[in-house]
Amino acid sequence: MTAGTQFDFIHRFVPPLPGGPKETLLLLHGTGGDEDDLIPLAGELLPGAALISPRGRALENGMPRFFRRLAEGVFDLDDLKVQTDALAQFVSTVSRKHGLEDNKIIALGYSNGANIAASLLLMHPALLSRAILFRPMVPFRPERSPNLNDMPVLLAAARHDQIVRPEQTAELSKILTTAGACVSIHWHPGGHELGADDVAAAQEWLSR
Ligand code: MLT
Repeated sequence: MTAGTQFDFIHRFVPPLPGGPKETLLLLHGTGGDEDDLIPLAGELLPGAALISPRGRALENGMPRFFRRLAEGVFDLDDLKVQTDALAQFVSTVSRKHGLEDNKIIALGYSNGANIAASLLLMHPALLSRAILFRPMVPFRPERSPNLNDMPVLLAAARHDQIVRPEQTAELSKILTTAGACVSIHWHPGGHELGADDVAAAQEWLSR
């Protein structure tokens, strides 16, 4: 297999607007979503930024995901690691191809996309400059803590999430904080779906 196919993802690339932010948003959709899902949200959060929006390559009953799972909340850790490496390579390749290698990269992930974004933070800490994780879980427990070097990370959790338990949010926060990240947590009053308060919290956090 050549590097071209091994690291390829179906994706959308949206070039930055002239004078736009020098940051690229990496958009990572939830299970059953695709590369179009988070484009409108990205436009609300960081207008004019370049967007790299891949489609997850693990199909579950036809639904795209970023890595395989064995059951709800039980991840195939071997696949997670392979897919995380492939995604990191893909993002670097696309950034270079479009002359954006000097841009800082902000991950914006929802649910399964937030889980692979957290995995990117733990396995490729130098790839990202910030991360917004909507409804993340603990992707895996790292044997050695990476160095996240004061990286700002927003966890947007939900008080009545049917899928993510509050202990998982607390554990992820601890893993990231131990790695040196500056973690902020927003608590949405509802369930797994995003609310307007999540968007407002992300906007406020990005403007800091
Ligand atoms: C999902 O349905 O996407 C889960 O909540 C998260 C995951 O499986 O990664």
